[in-house]
Amino acid sequence: MIKKITGVAATAAMLIALTGCAAGGDGGNGTDGGGDGDIVVGFSQVGAESGWRTANTIDVKAAFEEAGIELKFSDAQQKQENQIKAIRSYIQQQVDVIAFSPVVESGWDTVLKEAKDAGIPVVLTDRAVDSADTSLYVSFLGSDFIVEGERAGEWVKTEYADADKVNIVELQGTTGAAPANDRAEGLRNVIGDDPKFDIIASQTGDFTRAGGKQVMEAFLKSNPDIDLVYSHNDDMGLGAIEAIEAAGMVPGVDIKIVTVDAVKDGMQALADGKINFIVECSPLLGAQLVDVVKKVVAGETVEKRILTDETTFTQEQAIEALPDRKY
Ligand code: AHR
Repeated sequence: MIKKITGVAATAAMLIALTGCAAGGDGGNGTDGGGDGDIVVGFSQVGAESGWRTANTIDVKAAFEEAGIELKFSDAQQKQENQIKAIRSYIQQQVDVIAFSPVVESGWDTVLKEAKDAGIPVVLTDRAVDSADTSLYVSFLGSDFIVEGERAGEWVKTEYADADKVNIVELQGTTGAAPANDRAEGLRNVIGDDPKFDIIASQTGDFTRAGGKQVMEAFLKSNPDIDLVYSHNDDMGLGAIEAIEAAGMVPGVDIKIVTVDAVKDGMQALADGKINFIVECSPLLGAQLVDVVKKVVAGETVEKRILTDETTFTQEQAIEALPDRKY
C-alpha cells in the first residue's frame, strides 16, 4: 500500500485529484507515491445476481491480477448497507483507491464524503450515483443505460411499424438501480408518444433469472394479450422464457422478447429464436478501471465520464458472434 498523507495535506491532495488539476509527480490523490510502491484498491461489487455480474467480477479480478495491483474484493449481495460497510472498511484500511458499482443510485453522500475526507479517491464502475456533489468521485466508468433503453425502443418501433396495438410487459431491474431507472426511461423516450404502444405491466425481477420467471408467471396470469416482453437484462428474459414455455406458448413467436446485456446464455437464446433482439451492455470494465486507478494514483487527470463501446444483436448477428463471445 502506498503510504498515506493525512489531515490538511490529504484533503488538499484529494481536492487536486477530484478537480483533475494534478499533473503527474507526487500526490494529488491522497498518496505520496505518485505511482511508486504497491497500489491497493478496495472494490465493492453489487453481488452475483446475473451472468453479466459474474462476467464483470471475473474481468475486474483478472485485470487487477494482470496489472499486479492488489484488489480487496467484497460482494454486497445486492444490499446497499453491505456496500457502505465495505467502503467504510476500505477507508479504515487506508486503501489507495476505492471502486464500486452502486447497487442503487441514492444514499451515498455520507459515505462518499467520509472517503473524500480520508483523502481516498473513489471511482464508480458500471452504475452511477445521484449525488449532486460530483466531486465525491473522480470518475464514472460504464455504459449509458438510457441509450441502451433507447436502442431497445428503436427496435420495438421498427419491429411493430405496421401494428395497430402492441401490449408490452416490462421486467425491471433492481428498484432504484441506475440501469433500471435509465432503461425504463430510454424505452419511453422512443415509444412514449405513440399511443399504439401500451406498457400494460411493469415490475421488478431484481435482475435475476428466478425473479424474471416469477414476475412473468404473474404477468401471464393477469394479462391474456401480451405481445412483447421488455426485460432490463438477459437473465430476467431467460426466466421469462421458462414462464412462457410453461404456459404452453412459444417465446420469440407468440410473445416476442427484447433484452439488454448480450451474455452468452442470452445470445444463445437469441440464436435459437427465443429472444428477438439484444442490446449489448459490456461487463468488460476491468482494463479501463485499472487504467483509471493507475492515473489517479499517479496524480494524472482522468475523465469524469468514461463510456463503454457497445452494439446491438439480431438473431443472425448473435449466431455469428457466439463462437467468439468471451462471457
Ligand atoms: O449494472 C449492469 C446490470 O446489472 C446488468 O445489465 C445486469 O445484468 C446486472 O445485474
